[in-house]
Amino acid sequence: MNREDFCLLKQNIIYFDNGATALKPKVLKESLIDYYDHYSANAHRGDYDMGLQVDRMYEGAREKVRDFIQAKKTEEIVFTSGATDALNKIIFGYFKHNLKAGDEVLITVSEHASNVLPWFELQDEIGIKVSYIPLENHKVTLENIKKVVTENTKVISLAHITNVIGDVRPIKEICEYAHQFGILVLVDGAQSVAHDQVNVQQMGIDFFVFSAHKLYGPTGVGVLYGKEEYLHQIRPIIFGGGMNASFSKEGVRIYHDLPSMLEAGTQNIADVIAFGSVIDYVKKVGLDQIKRHEIELKKYCISKLKEIKGITIYNEDSESAIIAFNMEGVFAQDLAIYLNNYHICVRAGNHCAKILKEDIGVKNTVRISFAMYNTKEEIDVLIQALKNPNLKREML
Ligand code: ALA
Repeated sequence: MNREDFCLLKQNIIYFDNGATALKPKVLKESLIDYYDHYSANAHRGDYDMGLQVDRMYEGAREKVRDFIQAKKTEEIVFTSGATDALNKIIFGYFKHNLKAGDEVLITVSEHASNVLPWFELQDEIGIKVSYIPLENHKVTLENIKKVVTENTKVISLAHITNVIGDVRPIKEICEYAHQFGILVLVDGAQSVAHDQVNVQQMGIDFFVFSAHKLYGPTGVGVLYGKEEYLHQIRPIIFGGGMNASFSKEGVRIYHDLPSMLEAGTQNIADVIAFGSVIDYVKKVGLDQIKRHEIELKKYCISKLKEIKGITIYNEDSESAIIAFNMEGVFAQDLAIYLNNYHICVRAGNHCAKILKEDIGVKNTVRISFAMYNTKEEIDVLIQALKNPNLKREML
């Protein structure tokens, strides 16, 4: 689908590492060139035409993001450097000041490091307790959440779609349940926004984060969404220009309103604007169509992988475009290096989900993750490479 829009695909590669980052449509480069060739000014600082135009373009991108995730207000959208940055800003800017010793945060063992480590840090800093939602067939169920929620539970923090198993969490149901007890829900959307529609209001999400680069956008841009009532209480953890209205010699300072308060320093203006153009592009292709295509590819790939002796698939029935597998007697990374000989890009390792091994029983897997431009023909090449009777010999 839309392969002609992705220059890199002309280079005879088969790119199955979209969970790490997606390839970029040419509209991204065109938008960057347009900004650098015709504008290039800073945002929110210039009183001249060019600067004012940059303000409009930058804020226009914010509005596109708002619409993309169906937030209520543009003020609820903060640009960050990525999902990791956004998670840290929420955890240390909001939860650090709104949780106390003994309060409990529920996560799962399948979370990415960015949704685990900041909580561990907060555990050490203020004495919160990090607990785990038990998984069933690698998945989160509302019933299992109910089993572990206690009167101390204050936050449920989890990925919408996980980055190895690719299970889709029932976020709307989780939010509805959590809110009955005043529990806030923080959702990591890094692996979901490129593959499924997200409507933060309909789902009832309190905080939501994602990165632009997994959504066919630029690296170095992320999004922090928070419901206005909570975002208003967040404290900046980065201070400097652009986020303050005034400060005095004595240290009296007044910070701007949202979202500027959380965007200190010159932002990644060119990439934010380019990200806006990419969002237009993705919307035009249609997430429903992308999702249908990817799920079809996944089903096809799984049926073919199952024809190969010695392949273990860890997430056959997860509902997203990710497949995690291993080949008997072959170290995951060796298999990835072998596939590279066929110009096939996959990711191998623990994928930053280092405690998932507790659940799936292995430390490393090979991960295939699809995007809109992948095809069944590419899968056929992968399968052929994996069926090679000389595979192990070629690895030596
Ligand atoms: N978080 C990214 C991945 O899953 C890098 O590969």
